[in-house]
Amino acid sequence: MNRAVRLFSATGIALSLLVVAMIVLLPGLAGAQENAEGQDIYLTNCSSCHQPNGLGVPGSFPPLSGNPNVQDSEYVGGVIVGGLSGPIEVLGETYDGVMPPFASLSEAEIAAVTEYIQADVFEAADDGDTLEPGDSATGEAIFLGANRLENAGPACVACHTAANHQNLSGYTLGPDLTDLAVRYGGEEAVAAALSNPPSATMQPLFDGAPIVDQERADLAAYFESISDAEISRSPVDILLVAGVIGIIIFFALMLLAPRSRKPGFAETLRSQR
Ligand code: HEC
Ligand code: HEC
Repeated sequence: MNRAVRLFSATGIALSLLVVAMIVLLPGLAGAQENAEGQDIYLTNCSSCHQPNGLGVPGSFPPLSGNPNVQDSEYVGGVIVGGLSGPIEVLGETYDGVMPPFASLSEAEIAAVTEYIQADVFEAADDGDTLEPGDSATGEAIFLGANRLENAGPACVACHTAANHQNLSGYTLGPDLTDLAVRYGGEEAVAAALSNPPSATMQPLFDGAPIVDQERADLAAYFESISDAEISRSPVDILLVAGVIGIIIFFALMLLAPRSRKPGFAETLRSQR
């Protein structure tokens, strides 16, 4: 073989290697792009509970990383659309929580986030994951807006009720949070969820104004402290109280009303004497 031929075949081999590499790598690159969308959806909708690292919160929110159940796309899609409650077992641990349904996600978005979960390429854990213990009185003051949030997010009570902090006008934008710690399975899970509140209404408001670590801990301590408090004025109780007050007022009015009734039998007899 002369030099020219050798050069020619070397070039040929290099080119074919390049083609093979492109065939192998391009779908991978496309896949990576899809994952970016899936990751976005995951971080917006799922990570507050299942955590950015996919490990969940033991006892409260099951892990999705390393969880064999998530390889069943149909199952995952069903859970996303319909939510999930009731006891399940994941990697030897029992979970009995409530996952809300995500009715607003499109089919394409569900496919993307399912793929992201299945690829199990979650973000590494924050090192700042462990929080100082919170103070429930401070948490209550934050809830009420008496203590302003450090990043100037709106006060929770603007949209939520909790325990004895009720809204008698009867309308609130967000759900009552009295039993939040019970539903989420503890203080730690509440604190974790508040790093990215599971609410499409709240996220735009808190995106540029995150609830800082100490505030999350304090709020979580507050929700824990009220979680077993009796809900003293649930709507039914309000009706009951209103009814009792109504009856009292009714009798009071009867007693105070001028006696314009006809004289009774005894009085008639007496007046005839
Ligand atoms: C408010 C907290 C919360 C959010 C937000 C949330 N989940 Fe869940 N998820 C849960 C809880 C709690 C369970 C376990 C429910 C049970 O015990 O029945 C669960 C269970 C699951 C399961 C079933 C796991 C298994 O092994 O059977 C999947 C899959 C899942 N979630 C995916 C998602 C995806 C995807 C998102 C985002 C679109 C999401 N979750 C958002 C709380 C949440
Ligand atoms: C502008 C109104 C608004 C404010 C302010 C607000 N929230 Fe929310 N929040 C909502 C709405 C609405 C939901 C229900 C989900 C949705 O529709 O987005 C919600 C849901 C939640 C949830 C999930 C509830 C569940 O049952 O799983 C938590 C936790 C929560 N909010 C905590 C807080 C805390 C803590 C604060 C104060 C730091 C706060 N919110 C401030 C509107 C608000």
